[in-house]
Amino acid sequence: MTAIRFDYTNTLAEVVGPTHGLTESELAGLAPASAQALERVQARRARDLRWMDLPYQREVHDSILRYAAQVRGRFDNVVVLGIGGSALGNTALQTALNSPYHNLDAPEGTPRLFVLDNIDPDLIGEFLECVAPERSLFNVISKSGGTAETMAQFLLLRERLIESLGERDHRDHLVITTDADKGVLREIVRREGYQSFVVPDGVGGRFSVLSPVGLLSSALVGIDSGGLLAGAAAMDQRCKVPEFAQNPAQVHAAVQFLLHTRKHKPIAVTMSYSHRLRDFADWYAQLLAESIGKRKSSDGRDVFVGPTPVRAVGVTDQHSQVQLYAEGPFDKWFTFLSVDRPDHSIEIPKAYPDLEGVSYLGGHTFKGLFQAERDGTRVALTEAQRPNATIAFEKIDAHAVGQFIYLLEMSVALMGEHYRIDAFDQPGVEAGKIAAYALMGRSGYEQRRREILASAPKISRWV
Ligand code: PA5
Repeated sequence: MTAIRFDYTNTLAEVVGPTHGLTESELAGLAPASAQALERVQARRARDLRWMDLPYQREVHDSILRYAAQVRGRFDNVVVLGIGGSALGNTALQTALNSPYHNLDAPEGTPRLFVLDNIDPDLIGEFLECVAPERSLFNVISKSGGTAETMAQFLLLRERLIESLGERDHRDHLVITTDADKGVLREIVRREGYQSFVVPDGVGGRFSVLSPVGLLSSALVGIDSGGLLAGAAAMDQRCKVPEFAQNPAQVHAAVQFLLHTRKHKPIAVTMSYSHRLRDFADWYAQLLAESIGKRKSSDGRDVFVGPTPVRAVGVTDQHSQVQLYAEGPFDKWFTFLSVDRPDHSIEIPKAYPDLEGVSYLGGHTFKGLFQAERDGTRVALTEAQRPNATIAFEKIDAHAVGQFIYLLEMSVALMGEHYRIDAFDQPGVEAGKIAAYALMGRSGYEQRRREILASAPKISRWV
C-alpha cells in the first residue's frame, strides 16, 4: 500500500513568482488557524460529523458483503437511482476501480452498473428500452428519502417491476439506502418490507460515499470495498496529525484558501491525467461547491463565498481548455491527478522510419507519451506563472482511492473553518428542491408556488 502525495511545489512563490504563488510565510501564517480548525473539526467527530468514522464501520460493511454474496449471480444489472451525493461517488468508484468497458464485458457473475442520476425523459426512456427491469437490481438511494427526482424514478421502476414480476417478487429487485427513521422512503421500506441499508446521522450526501451509499453498489460490482475503507482509515491517521506541514488535509485546505483569498484565484481546476479518476473530479466538484459555496458566514453575515470548481481531463482538454489556462486570466489554480504506474503497458509500434513527423513515436509507450504530455502541460502552466499542484497516485487501487476520498473530505471540512462558513449544510440546494415541490403542486407548498408564479418576469425578450 503506498501513500498518495499532495505535491504543492508549483503553487509556491519561489516557483511561479510572488504575485501568483504562495510564500512560505503565508503558509506558515495560516498554520495556527489551521491547527485550531483541525481541533474544532475533530471535536465534532463523535457529535455531528459522523462521516469521519465511516472507515471503521465494520458491522455495516460486513452486512453489505453478506447481502452482495447473497444476490451474487442473480442480476445482470445493478441500477442506482439517486442524484448528487447519492450518485456521484457511485459513478466515480465504478470508473476508478473497474474497467471503463465494464458494462460491455463484465466479468463472469458480476453485474453491469448504471447510475441514473437524471430525470431527462429521453435518458429514462432510452434506459427502459435497453435494460430489462426483471434482470436488474435497483438500489434507490436518498438520504432525505424524499428527493423528487429519485422518488419519481422509484415509482416508475417499481411499477415496471410489479408489471413484469408481480406484487410479491418485485421486492427482491429493490434495495433501499436511506435514513434510519426519517423520510417517506423509510416509510415505504416499512410498508413493503424492502431490503434496506442506512445512511447514518451526521453523514451528509456529499460526504456519504464511504457509507452504504457508495459501498453497496461497489460491493455488488466486485470493487474491493474493504480496501477503500482501509485506505480511508490510513488517511484519517495522516489527517489527525497536528503539525501543519505533515498533514496533507491541512496543507491542501490552506493552499486552496490562500490561493483564492490572497492570490485572487476563485477558480479551482481539477485536471485528471487518469481516465480512471476523471469522475472523481466531478465528485470533488460537488464536494467543494456545495460545501464551501455559501451566502451566510457561520455567524450569520452575508459573505457570498466559494471557489468555483472546474473539471478537465488530460490529455483530452489540452486540445480544448489549456490555451485558456496558460494564457487567459490569472483567476485559476490547478490540481493535476496523476498516476505513476498505470495497469497497462502498451508500446507504440515503429513504422515509417523516413518520416520524422511520426517515426519518433515508435518504440515509446502510451504511458510515456501520456506522462510526457502531462509533464509538458505542468511545465507550460508553471512557466506561465499558473500555480498548480499534483495529487500523485503510485497506482490506482481501492486503498489509494479510499485515501484520496478521505483527504478531500477532511480538506473541505477544514476549508469550511477557514472560509468561516458551515461546510455541511446546503440551503441553496434545499431552496431548489422546495421550488420544485411547489411547482409540482405538492401539498404544503401552496404559498411558495404563489410566490414563484407572482415573481415571474413581466417582460419577455427573445430572438
Ligand atoms: O450533498 C447533498 O446533500 C446533495 O447533493 C444530496 O446528495 C442530493 O440533493 C440528493 O439528496 P438525497 O440523498 O437526500 O436524495
